[in-house]
Amino acid sequence: MNFPIQSYLPDASRMIYGCMGLGGGWNSNPVSNDDIQQAEKLIHLALESGINFFDHADIYTFGKAETAFGSVLKNTPSLRDRIILQSKCGIKLEDANGPQRYDLSAAWITSSVEDILKRLNTDYLEVLMLHRPDPLMEPEAIADVFYKLLAAGKVKHFAVSNMNQHQIQYLDSFLDQPLIANQLPMSLKEHDFVDDGILVGSKESSTTGFTPGLMEYSRLNKIQLQSWGSLAQGLFSGRDSSNESLPIQETAQRVHQLASEYQSSPEAIVLAWLMGHPAGIQPVVGTTHPDRLKASAQAVDVQLSRDHWYSLYQTARGKDLP
Ligand SMILES: NC(=O)c1ccc[n+]([C@@H]2O[C@H](COP(=O)([O-])OP(=O)(O)OC[C@H]3O[C@@H](n4cnc5c(N)ncnc54)[C@H](OP(=O)(O)O)[C@@H]3O)[C@@H](O)[C@H]2O)c1
Repeated sequence: MNFPIQSYLPDASRMIYGCMGLGGGWNSNPVSNDDIQQAEKLIHLALESGINFFDHADIYTFGKAETAFGSVLKNTPSLRDRIILQSKCGIKLEDANGPQRYDLSAAWITSSVEDILKRLNTDYLEVLMLHRPDPLMEPEAIADVFYKLLAAGKVKHFAVSNMNQHQIQYLDSFLDQPLIANQLPMSLKEHDFVDDGILVGSKESSTTGFTPGLMEYSRLNKIQLQSWGSLAQGLFSGRDSSNESLPIQETAQRVHQLASEYQSSPEAIVLAWLMGHPAGIQPVVGTTHPDRLKASAQAVDVQLSRDHWYSLYQTARGKDLP
């Protein structure tokens, strides 16, 4: 199986809708009716487009993304059984106590989950993700809090984000249940996950931002890879790239050529490139633009040929393969 999350969540869609843009922005304005209506429209559009998996984090738009989403669930409780909810905790944004920092202590995880459930108007999350590795984390404490959350029925599965295989393996060794996913930056722009594999033995290998072997570790251990920033913020699919580097401009052109060749959308080509990797990467797509969401959802119908997959990678890389 090259879509590992299905062993835990058999109904999970191939793609995930990223909710970071919901809630009316990173400001102190309260969540408005317009924000709730926007969330409602996008949730329904995602479902109509075959996406039933929604990615949150407690910090997104200072909690307002979850609040807007939770208001939709409150207004239409029947939606809850049709969706899979994932949220994250562990980042503390700048506040009176200090600048941005991480906190994977048992107390912070526990209170974060309580707050997430309240904002989302739900009794449980299908997946709780640890948002970033915390240098001060203690795996015994994490194992204990996971056990309690599981026993209370508040979380069904646990996962991580932005971690390497050493951190995952270490944490896993303390847990009763496996970590089922890892969410990382992966896209035609952030292609270190591919570079890592092709640069073995060369000095250039030290320049990739990926921990060597993470792809293979994830596949061997059936850890679902989820990509954030999957659309590269639209750089290849319509956003003005005239001030960007030549590889970015050329990749955008190539994406548009392939979109017409495959009779699909540029967004679908960008995502199909990620999904064409045999690790079964699950793209998290963060657009709040309905047309871009529909265009993105077309990716499940595009299977890039090997030659086209390589041509996109080589163009994005901006230099020949070794
Ligand atoms: N685990 C982590 O650390 C982490 C970090 C960041 C994000 N995430 C997750 O990943 C999701 C996606 O991340 P992301 O939003 O950074 O990346 P993304 O999906 O690559 O890009 C979405 C952003 O790009 C804009 N965009 C897309 N196409 C565009 C175009 N043609 N023209 C202009 N703007 C365009 C969107 O604006 P519109 O809304 O106007 O379309 C939106 O702001 C988030 O929602 C969140 O769930 C996770």
